[in-house]
Amino acid sequence: VNKHNFYSGPAVLPSEVLEQVQQALVDFAGTGLSILEVSHRSPSFVAVMDSARALARDLMGLDDAYEILWLHGGGNTQFSMIPMNLLHPHATAGYFDTGIWARSAMEEAQSFGQVQVIASSRASSYDHIPQDWDIGSTPLSYAHITTNNTVYGTQWRLSDIDRLKSLVPYMVADMSSDIFSRDIDYSGFGLIYACAQKNLGAAGVTIVAIRRDILATMPRPIPTMSDYRVHIAHGSMRNTPSVFAVYVAYLTLQWIKRTGLDTIAIRNQRKATKLYAAIDASSIFKGMVQPAYRSGMNVCFTTGDSTYDTRFSDYVKPYGIIGIEGYRLVGGFRASIYNALPEASVDVLIAAMLDFEASL
Ligand SMILES: Cc1ncc(COP(=O)(O)O)c(C=O)c1O
Repeated sequence: VNKHNFYSGPAVLPSEVLEQVQQALVDFAGTGLSILEVSHRSPSFVAVMDSARALARDLMGLDDAYEILWLHGGGNTQFSMIPMNLLHPHATAGYFDTGIWARSAMEEAQSFGQVQVIASSRASSYDHIPQDWDIGSTPLSYAHITTNNTVYGTQWRLSDIDRLKSLVPYMVADMSSDIFSRDIDYSGFGLIYACAQKNLGAAGVTIVAIRRDILATMPRPIPTMSDYRVHIAHGSMRNTPSVFAVYVAYLTLQWIKRTGLDTIAIRNQRKATKLYAAIDASSIFKGMVQPAYRSGMNVCFTTGDSTYDTRFSDYVKPYGIIGIEGYRLVGGFRASIYNALPEASVDVLIAAMLDFEASL
């Protein structure tokens, strides 16, 4: 396929993974059955589940104080499961309002307990990660952050994450759009979650890494399928898991392991650096967020003029560039340059930007 896929999710996958998936659609692990036909209780699939769990734990460098879960319901379901399981009715959780997803997570929590908005960048169209933190006077149960704001193209700096860690009992992080993309100490969190359809595979499964001790006291009766303890007890098989999506995540984790997290981080850095450099050097395009908080995964830029933006959208089509339009409420462009996006695709986008500028 000769496309340069900049979609924000579902997103580009490693071609090796797609080839393996293609094979497994016909014959999964020599069973003579398609991955779509195989029982989730069959030994071959149970082995996939176990290996996916072990690989994720290994790549995150987490010890056995943590459980790895593969759940349904996407990132959005975690927004309510987290406070339901972790926030007692009169306790307070701290949230950062740094974008649409961060805000949704925060709003869901308000139904279950008190929410302290530690900081918000809403007033400036979410163009940065705010530094003016108000932890409040009530001790916080946890602090929730969205490490990468997919829609706006901002990302938490590791130094800010470390600073926050020292202020709260534990952190909860939505890493949907930057998991396994950079060198981060995963062990400092109480709970990490990420929907799979960006850096981890196909839509339909969400990874949750949770430190068991934070579930010691349950704040309320919890419906079975929203209870982390139930999923832990059943090895993420309390109901039929998304067999296909778990399989693709397993293959993608293997690809990450094979490639090496360090190598992936270096490649990502190179892709982002050259794309931002092209934006900064351009006389027509400009970046949409404050440089210190630029995302290494979602690069947002615009001409600042919707006529030119529309022209550029059309202009890139012959290059095979797809999926660069910004989120519908934000406009402009968003090039998602996840782990599996080849550097060559970034080069093509930069060439198209230069050609467009020269054509004006
Ligand atoms: C950071 C972040 N969190 C959560 C979500 C929502 O995920 P889902 O659509 O799987 O519910 C997204 C989706 O784009 C996201 O980017």
